[in-house]
Amino acid sequence: MKKTILTTAAVLLAAVGGIAAKQIDIVPRPLFMEVSDSEEFRLSEPLALRVAVSELLPAARIFAGQLERIVSFEPDVVCGKAKKGAVNIVLDRKLAAEEYRVEVSGQRIDLTAGSPRGAFHAMQTLRQIAACCAGEGETVIPALRIEDKPFFAYRGMMLDVARTWVDAPHVKRYIDLLSYHNINKLHLHLSDDEGWRIEIRSHPELTEIGGFRGGDSPVRPIYGKWDEKYGGYYTQEQMRELIAYAAARNIEIIPEIDLPGHSRNIASVHPEIRCNYRPDTVSTCGYDYRSAWCVAREENYALLEDILGEICDLFPSEYVHVGGDEVDMSQWKRCPDCQALMAREGMDDPHRLEDRFMERMSAILRSHGKRTAVWNEAVRTGNLSRDTRVHGWESTRACLDATAKGYPTIVMPGEYFYFDMRQSPEEAGHNWAGIFDARKVYSFDLEGVGFSEEQRRHVAGLQGAFWSELYSAHEPERPDYLDYMLYPRVCALACLAWSGNGDGWVRYYEELRTKHYPRMEAMGIRYRLFPPRLVCRDGVCTVTADDGSEIFYVRDDRPGEEFRYTGPVRTDRPHLFRFFTRRGTGRSPYVADRSYYRT
Ligand code: ACM
Ligand code: ZN
Repeated sequence: MKKTILTTAAVLLAAVGGIAAKQIDIVPRPLFMEVSDSEEFRLSEPLALRVAVSELLPAARIFAGQLERIVSFEPDVVCGKAKKGAVNIVLDRKLAAEEYRVEVSGQRIDLTAGSPRGAFHAMQTLRQIAACCAGEGETVIPALRIEDKPFFAYRGMMLDVARTWVDAPHVKRYIDLLSYHNINKLHLHLSDDEGWRIEIRSHPELTEIGGFRGGDSPVRPIYGKWDEKYGGYYTQEQMRELIAYAAARNIEIIPEIDLPGHSRNIASVHPEIRCNYRPDTVSTCGYDYRSAWCVAREENYALLEDILGEICDLFPSEYVHVGGDEVDMSQWKRCPDCQALMAREGMDDPHRLEDRFMERMSAILRSHGKRTAVWNEAVRTGNLSRDTRVHGWESTRACLDATAKGYPTIVMPGEYFYFDMRQSPEEAGHNWAGIFDARKVYSFDLEGVGFSEEQRRHVAGLQGAFWSELYSAHEPERPDYLDYMLYPRVCALACLAWSGNGDGWVRYYEELRTKHYPRMEAMGIRYRLFPPRLVCRDGVCTVTADDGSEIFYVRDDRPGEEFRYTGPVRTDRPHLFRFFTRRGTGRSPYVADRSYYRT
């Protein structure tokens, strides 16, 4: 008898082939899964992982290490033809790049994929199955067939390492966690007003000076850190290692050098790139706060060729992101050289200067075999060529506009996908794009927010973002700040981008609580909990955390009054409660919203 599963992530293997009842949970859920009671496959020693081509070796070695932790012996990884008794990993170019199949029988396990990227997913799916089937003795995998492919080819996260420096080991951990969620693009925001984070060998001063703030650096520190010099940068060697580390986990790193605005940092190191007038520095403690490159200064393009040339050589990604957001054009309006350029070229709008600048960046990238990616402001005039990829961040409307113009667009409007936003009014984070949690992320619906069928064809994918202006402020008291801001919002994004949100929130929330929370705890992710549920009757309220754990600590909002809480609490006036739960990694902190608890 066969069980065909199309709509559920979990399969209860009730005594299939004599195995004790086990659940197979695969996240994100595959498109198709069929389990049968035919003979199962035993993961027993010796076991070979046989890859058809050497390209598959790096991901197979990672997989072997993961399997070892499940089955307690190390499988051999060999390159060669598929065989009985082995886990065979082969490519079938008829499948789409990330499409894959998993077939398990008593004789063998076959993983088939359209490319090494799909093969990575096939191995990770088998890892999840093995983890579900692991028990006291041998790990026994039931006969099954899985067919799967993602909804969006581009499933990204952006990390701002410019405002707050994030060192290479932390980026690796971040890559590991994203990879577990089938995120396949890591957009690294490598330069901004506050930091330059990637070594440029022809201009070592960019990182040696621009990688650090405070102390004797010309780069202004965050408020209060005047005497402390702090920061860091990636050497090209370190970045090469990160690129390879990410690639082996099916993540492409896309570099961003933010131009022509957000460039105060490089302008602090090379003041000559700025426009040709004396700024007023009285209100800025002597710092020159101008942040834009002068468009009319021809020598600037030689420096930009040096920088982008090295970026193109270093990063294998097809696209290089050159920014284009929030350019302060008042600097160009005050610059006699930019004004003369506008007059010469008959331009009546400074946005044309940004077009001109970006066209030159695209020409540099093209000459190095790359394509251009930009923030949505850079295509406001619609003059950039249609092979420019747009990251729509300002609003859903900006994404609608870019797709209406025919640009391939990464949809990441701040009000759904900026994970530096607060998750409730009383919690940490920004709020300019909104206050939202994973539920809102999960709810995003292209059609629902107005994308026509034609516009949807131009949507290249979805992306979340974490901007780090507040990260360094919170880090000393909350080293888990990044985890707390990202998870479970990244889980919701990953589900949306891989398999969609057709299950609806109620079911997905149940999946979060019962499957993702324990998984994230096992992975050491210090995720954020949803508000504890407060049930009040006759002014007596009971509080339960959304992971089902007991609330054991509550802080009253009266200054200096803290008390342990173990039972129902009488609340006859508003309280601010601070909850800590017992489970797993210790504490999943949540600061409750006052109004939520008003009784
Ligand atoms: C942005 O958030 N300025 C791209
Ligand atoms: Zn100028």
